[in-house]
Amino acid sequence: MIKAIIYHSNTGHTFEYAKLLSEILKIPYYSLEETNLPIKKEDEIIYLSWICAGKITKLKQVQKNYQIKCIGAVGAYNKSEKYLEELKSGNQIQSPCFYLQGGINYQKLKGISKLIVKMVGKTIPKEEKELVNLFQNGGSFVKKENLKELINYVKEEEK
Ligand SMILES: Cc1cc2nc3c(=O)[nH]c(=O)nc-3n(C[C@H](O)[C@H](O)[C@H](O)COP(=O)(O)O)c2cc1C
Repeated sequence: MIKAIIYHSNTGHTFEYAKLLSEILKIPYYSLEETNLPIKKEDEIIYLSWICAGKITKLKQVQKNYQIKCIGAVGAYNKSEKYLEELKSGNQIQSPCFYLQGGINYQKLKGISKLIVKMVGKTIPKEEKELVNLFQNGGSFVKKENLKELINYVKEEEK
């Protein structure tokens, strides 16, 4: 049985997904930063975390400390099978992994991070209008529907 959703968020999108998922699955959610989490090493968890330069942040740490049932990787790019495969191989993931499109919040990004995101934005082909707009102006793609696959997986497993 999955005991908790543990999330790691930089600017809030992953937090929003954790909250939504918790409401739907009725599983408590905790920030990875919280101390004294009421979770034991043998407990199964769902790990939600933001992607930074192709890496699912803090994944190694969480893999060491808990049993990850599945992962929700939150990034700015559009969802695609190709990108998910890249993430899985780049992060050496064995557990089921689901991509969740987050967004960009320029109000919360600071210094070098802001600069990097702006620079990455310039490399996006102009045909991908929605994504170009996201990187130029910020915005959020967080919505319940994006959690559908992850939720279906959990429900099947918990039957
Ligand atoms: C320095 C930096 C690097 C990023 N690298 C990626 C990336 O490789 N792939 C991606 O899809 N999104 C990338 N993003 C976008 C974030 O993953 C996206 O904004 C996500 O929604 C952040 O989640 P959070 O609000 O929970 O922190 C990057 C953002 C920053 C600031």
